[in-house]
Amino acid sequence: MRRPFIAGNWKMNLDRAAAVDLATAIVARAGEFAAVDVAVCPPSVYLEAVAGAIGKVTVGLGAQNMYHEAKGAFTGELSAGMLLDLGCQFVILGHSERRHILGETDEDVNRKVHAALAAGLTPIVCVGETLDEREAGDTTTVISRQFDGSLAGLSDEQAAGIVIAYEPVWAIGTGKVATPDQAEEVHLDLRKMLTGRYNEATAEAVRIQYGGSVKPDNASELLAQANVDGALVGGASLKADDFLAIVAAAAGSQTPV
Ligand code: PGA
Repeated sequence: MRRPFIAGNWKMNLDRAAAVDLATAIVARAGEFAAVDVAVCPPSVYLEAVAGAIGKVTVGLGAQNMYHEAKGAFTGELSAGMLLDLGCQFVILGHSERRHILGETDEDVNRKVHAALAAGLTPIVCVGETLDEREAGDTTTVISRQFDGSLAGLSDEQAAGIVIAYEPVWAIGTGKVATPDQAEEVHLDLRKMLTGRYNEATAEAVRIQYGGSVKPDNASELLAQANVDGALVGGASLKADDFLAIVAAAAGSQTPV
């Protein structure tokens, strides 16, 4: 059985005080949902403050991006080691906003995945098709290209240590959520890609989150799908009550594998 994993992607929102307040409110209740892994991913500049608010307890800490080099003349970038130093266990890599707005390629994401794993961070690797790609019937091709490119060169053991997030671009921040069937179809495809590339234990161990307009009122039916192992939550992660309601939905919808 894969433990459900709900992560909040706060993106470029909140200020320092609001970030600490939100983390404090989440930590106060996350312990009620012991069967679910929970993490928050604040803006990098607030990681340390949020790490202080969550302590070493029930909530994990993740960054939203990193650079693949360990150190050096890379103005404005942060390394995996620096994120670890701030208390991170996770890092979101290849988010569609980074792919589409900041121009990240699968090769960039792949270098970051290797660097994150080498440093001991768990990457949450995002894949997802645009509306045009879906309407052209290219969803599987796009997902499989991103899967192959972003995860190139990983051993079975390394692959077992990643999390994948399927985030259809057309559903991110739009209020247009994928139906449970649409989500499960791609999640099952991803599981098959894992099975084709890695050993069975690895393919079964990797958690695949769904992301894209996950809200308290749609979380249960998405999380009830056999291959939907959690959620990467943007907008709804900025309100403690909404985020915790999604965590509660995950606690109530564990499906045996
Ligand atoms: P959303 O964002 O929940 O606001 O759609 C999800 C994400 O981008 O991770």
